[in-house]
This record gives sequence, C-alpha cells and structure tokens, in this order.
Amino acid sequence: MKKRTETSSFGTSGRTNHDARKFYNSRMYKNLNNNKPIQIFENKISEEIENKILLKSSENMKELPNNSVHLMITSPPYNVSKEYDDDLTLNEYLNLLTKVFSETYRVLVNGGRACINVANLGRKPYIPLSDYISKIMIDLGFNMRGEVIWNKASSAGSSTAWGSWKSASNPILRDVHEYILIFSKGDYKREKKENSITRDEFMEYTKSIWNMNTVSAKKIKHPAPFPFELPYRLIQLYSFEKDVILDPFIGSGTTGLAALKTKRKYVGYEIKKEYKILADNYLNAEKMKLYLF
Ligand SMILES: C[S@@+](CC[C@H](N)C(=O)[O-])C[C@H]1O[C@@H](n2cnc3c(N)ncnc32)[C@H](O)[C@@H]1O
Repeated sequence: MKKRTETSSFGTSGRTNHDARKFYNSRMYKNLNNNKPIQIFENKISEEIENKILLKSSENMKELPNNSVHLMITSPPYNVSKEYDDDLTLNEYLNLLTKVFSETYRVLVNGGRACINVANLGRKPYIPLSDYISKIMIDLGFNMRGEVIWNKASSAGSSTAWGSWKSASNPILRDVHEYILIFSKGDYKREKKENSITRDEFMEYTKSIWNMNTVSAKKIKHPAPFPFELPYRLIQLYSFEKDVILDPFIGSGTTGLAALKTKRKYVGYEIKKEYKILADNYLNAEKMKLYLF
C-alpha cells in the first residue's frame, strides 16, 4: 500500500493519499468550525414565488421558509453613489448586509452555499469590504470555503489614476480584480444528485483565479451588472439541477438567467421597480424560449 503523505512543516505537500487529520486537529483549528445546531430537513418554497423577483428589500425575506434555498449568489450594492445607492455610512452599510446575510443563513438548507461578489473601494484609505464581509459571514455562523479572485484584466478599462507617475512618492494600485467569497451553512458536503458540470468546467472552475470579461452596463441598461459567466460558474460548481438559487440583490436578473439556463429555479429581491421590470423582461424572454409559461 502507498504511504499516506502528511501536511509538511515546510508548506509543500504531496497530494496523493494525503492525510490532513493532523492539520485539522491542530490548535489553529480549535473553535473554528461553526457548529451551530442546524435542522437537516429541507422545506419547499411556494410555487407563487418560484422563478419570481419580489419588489422589496431583502432585509426581510419572510416569503422564503427556513431551510429552503440551496445556493445564494449576489453582488451587493456598493454604496458608492451609483444611481441605486443610498449614501450610507460604512457602519450603516455593513448593518444592511448583516441583516440580508442573516436572512440568507436562515433560508439556506444544511450544506447550502453563499457566494458574494464584491470589489474593494477607494484609496485614502482603501476600504477592504471583502474582509469586513468575510468577518460578518463567519460571525453569522457560516463556514468559509474559500475565495475566488475574478481577474478582469483583459476587459477592465485600465485606470490612469497612477498617483505619482513613475515615482515612489505615492504610486496607486489599480485594481483589475474583484472577489467572490464562498461560504457554507452547516455541512461542507451535499448529497450527490443530478449534475450538469462538464469535466473541463470542473477543472477550470475549481481554480481560485477566474479570468472573465466584464459586461457593459450600457448594453444591459443597469449600472452594475456582473457577467453571465459569474453566476453560471457558481451554479455549475455549487448546485444540482432543480435546486433553488437566491439572489437578494438581483438587479438586471443575471443570476435568474443563469438559473433558468441550467435547469435550476430562482428567487430574486430587488428594491427598484425599474430594475425589476428590466430583469423580468430578460427573464420572461428566456422562459418563452424554454416554454416555461
Ligand atoms: C450591484 S447591483 C446587482 C447587479 C446584478 N448582479 C446584475 O447582474 O444585474 C445591486 C442591486 O441591489 C439593489 N438593492 C439595493 N438595496 C437593496 C435591498 N435592500 N434589497 C433588494 N435590492 C436592493 C439595487 O437596486 C441594485 O439593482
């Protein structure tokens, strides 16, 4: 029999037959797993809200029963004075996210996943929203699974805000990336069901850097859409067919579109009527194609 490798003290490790028990039993991991009591059973969402967007704030998602959603994908409002943003203080903004993600925790099934796309903001000082959000999620009881760096380099308009040109006086980093933070409620593992991911997709999507082009806000008619590929990849990697996918800040409906195209169901929340109308138009066109009416 092949000898099992162990996590090495030099940081490199063989991957065949790897035994990580020593690592996970170390004091570093003591108290790290959120072992809140979680109900194993799943509830069904009502047909009335299946494949629908609700026009209201997702701070309260009372339409969704506990333990009824399998995957949450979202990109929160950035609170940077875009058309749809309120001018909240950092604390007010983080409180809004805490309410929405606490509701997300309630509605996710055991083993359900939550994926949050976020960019960090500003320079004086830099606001590491991704760090604040990870901390909020962990405090709410989520277990963090990892983070994806979305490399937008090939499509990001290259900013010319250099700070000080060719000088160490005050050079400014020009972000060409965003984050996708990934969490689980309860168990990391879900029971195997009908899958739609291909071998090549699995090989690519399990890497922690994703190269994806941005999408034109003008074309979509929403100020901050993410590209279709972003929810598509997350749905393929983290959910099964017929699962319920939630986006509490659904905007132009991209998450719903990816859910329909992959034989999942969606529920969205959107606070602005004009964006709900826009998203419903995109989604109804897709439902017509799929004969879902
Ligand atoms: C970053 S955008 C999401 C864009 C979306 N991913 C897409 O591809 O179009 C955030 C959206 O959240 C909406 N929003 C802001 N606060 C909200 C709240 N409390 N509840 C529900 N939606 C909200 C905004 O109107 C905006 O459309």
